[in-house]
Amino acid sequence: MTKLWGGRFQKSAESWVDEFGASIGFDQQLVMEDIEGSLAHVTMLGVQGILPEEDVEKIKWGLNELKKRAENGELEYKIENEDIHLNIEKMLIDLIGPVGGKLHTGRSRNDQVATDVHLFLKKRVKEVIELIETFQKTILQKAEQHIDTIAPGYTHMQRAQPISFAHHLMVYFWMLERDKERFKESMKRIDISPLGAGAMAGTTFPINRQLTADLLGFSRIYENSMDAVSDRDFIVEFLSNSSLLMTHLSRFAEEIIIWSTDEFKFIELDDSFSTGSSIMPQKKNPDMAELIRGKTGRVYGNLIGLLTVLKGTPLTYNKDMQEDKEGMFDTLQTILGSLKIFEGMVRTMTVNTERLHKAVHSDFSNATELADYLATKGMPFRKAHEVTGKLVFTCIQKGIFLQDLSIDEMKAESELIEEDVYEVLKPEAAVSRRLSQGGTGFEQVRVQIEKAKACLN
Ligand code: ARG
Repeated sequence: MTKLWGGRFQKSAESWVDEFGASIGFDQQLVMEDIEGSLAHVTMLGVQGILPEEDVEKIKWGLNELKKRAENGELEYKIENEDIHLNIEKMLIDLIGPVGGKLHTGRSRNDQVATDVHLFLKKRVKEVIELIETFQKTILQKAEQHIDTIAPGYTHMQRAQPISFAHHLMVYFWMLERDKERFKESMKRIDISPLGAGAMAGTTFPINRQLTADLLGFSRIYENSMDAVSDRDFIVEFLSNSSLLMTHLSRFAEEIIIWSTDEFKFIELDDSFSTGSSIMPQKKNPDMAELIRGKTGRVYGNLIGLLTVLKGTPLTYNKDMQEDKEGMFDTLQTILGSLKIFEGMVRTMTVNTERLHKAVHSDFSNATELADYLATKGMPFRKAHEVTGKLVFTCIQKGIFLQDLSIDEMKAESELIEEDVYEVLKPEAAVSRRLSQGGTGFEQVRVQIEKAKACLN
């Protein structure tokens, strides 16, 4: 009987059963956190006089030795030791002898695994926040280069009103700003120590939970030991925040893909972020953007997966909860990768200003200008809307645009229209005059960009 918990068992599980129950294949990613948690725990056991100092020193030495080996990739994990916690404990005992078996005094794998995941997410969510901010900086830089670039703005995927291209790009800055806020805010609930909750009811040993929390850098501790071992909300939140982040990246990816088509050609992706076709030599595909759009699916899946795992689990720990990890690791890897790739893609893309200029000068996106012009001259806006609509219809029949109509043709619909209308119909005027707060007017976009800068570190 080699199992650390094997005392009450008469026979071993068969290896294929062990394999099904094991989490070591994926929870080995928690090795550093597991050792860190054990070091804090054993230090506390010493301070509290629960273990004699010499035992504590031996255990610490062993744990530090395992840490070094882990850093060098020298640890050999075994399926029969089920998970990272038992693997490390077994290695410790093999390394320093039976005294290693004292490490688990006053502790359970239930508070141990929760501690590991809290530590893990605390570290990695910081990385996510940093990457979001790096991407925001890149978007901001691109936007600054294109404040004066006029582009068509869309609703219903139809040309709506001319905008500053910077205004469009900055939308993604603000989405990411909210994502960043959400991840930062979630830290409050990641940054809690479950250690010392034991299996679920606490322990009879005179432990000091505040001390282990302090040693591990946690801001506070769970107030209820049962809550401590059964709470996985903080992982759900991470998956949920990641899902919304991916929604944003996916929307941006969709635009990048559309803008890269021959039909739009608003941007060109750098060769280093595109791929060719194995059969069609002319192709340059926005694969990275498509992949990010596609990977959004698995991130949503991981969120729904964990919510579903949790909904039927009674208190407290249930083995179901082992299913919290793979989705979390996968989501983390996916969002870190997606953020990195997207940042590079945007940094290196070229904006086709000529094409945008042409687009915006050959459409009806200045129709609102004419309606506003008439309204300013006293015509009720509803009427102005109708008059403009009629002129648009005339243009469509003639195959021309509003600015191509003669003054007489316009006057035929309303005597209020005068020569100065041509100035108003220019897309440049349409943008620069939209000076309401948060509007696309160049001056407003400059103000917006200054405000955005204040959100960055
Ligand atoms: N591998 C387990 C998990 O990931 C660790 C906790 C196991 N606890 C237990 N009582 N079986 O959830």
